[in-house]
Amino acid sequence: MVKRIGVLTSGGDAPGMNAAIRAVTRVALNSGIEVFGIYNGYKGMVEGDIEPLTKASVGEIIDRGGTILGSARLPEFKDLEVRTKAVAQLQKRGIEAIVVIGGDGSYRGALALTEMGINCIGLPGTIDNDITCTDFTIGFDTALNTIVEAVDKLRDTSSSHHRCSIVEVMGNRCGDLAIYSGIACGAEIIVTSQTGFEESEVLERLRDLDLIKKKRQAIVIISEKITDVHQFAKKVSLHTGFSGRATVLGHVQRGGSPTPNDRVLASRMGEKAVDLLMQGIGGQCISIRNNEIISVLIEEALNMPRDSRKKLHNLFDRLV
Ligand code: F6P
Repeated sequence: MVKRIGVLTSGGDAPGMNAAIRAVTRVALNSGIEVFGIYNGYKGMVEGDIEPLTKASVGEIIDRGGTILGSARLPEFKDLEVRTKAVAQLQKRGIEAIVVIGGDGSYRGALALTEMGINCIGLPGTIDNDITCTDFTIGFDTALNTIVEAVDKLRDTSSSHHRCSIVEVMGNRCGDLAIYSGIACGAEIIVTSQTGFEESEVLERLRDLDLIKKKRQAIVIISEKITDVHQFAKKVSLHTGFSGRATVLGHVQRGGSPTPNDRVLASRMGEKAVDLLMQGIGGQCISIRNNEIISVLIEEALNMPRDSRKKLHNLFDRLV
């Protein structure tokens, strides 16, 4: 049976990563497995920035955002030479298997390491909810709460000044933060890669909201990487009765104490990851599907098409 495992966080941090580190560590220690924290993602693995974790060292972190292990992006990890150095660092310490908490880029590294004889299990840690094999990723719920809180506040000030707030949310080409927050905040318009962005059409809809529907304010939620929201806000001021203001929520969405849902999700997924490693299984990632924690081959997960969000978009349209 596996005796020593490592855990690392990689890619953009997400609230709930600490809860996942804690779960992996405590479930493993309670099963007689030693646990090592690998600092700063794959970079720390290559550099040997690796320390044992104890039950105490993961105490008082379940409520903390960010990741106590630090995170990094290391595109060079796709080079065999770099990975060979990493594997040597693990072997030197007798670490046989790893739990990788991160997004799909991190999963690619986990798969490559598994193919080199180090069993890896991936946990979906990203606010973007862009890992297609899971209904929810760790951090999504917290980021969604952050957005909703911010947009609710923007609505207060927008309605006092007859303004249109254009709010850019993260998601890295996945529209989930936008569509979920749009529904939760009662936004007037949402723009994602699924809706597409026809500037003139959005301006027309805003004119209608102002002139026909007599709205005091309007909220437009736009996924990042679609348009320059500051430029668009100027056009709203020029071509509609609202004065346009853009807010880029940015990295605020990545911080904060994880919601109870994210803490529980991280704990359930962390437990499953350790159970798989104890069975000598690697090359898989953990998902939640219909509230059941399951595992999927990383290779399959990386090639799975994204579920359509058509029903959510239809719901949004029926609510405006
Ligand atoms: O993947 C998480 C994420 O926050 C994306 O939503 C965003 O596009 C990206 O990371 C930002 O990356 P960085 O923190 O490197 O600016």
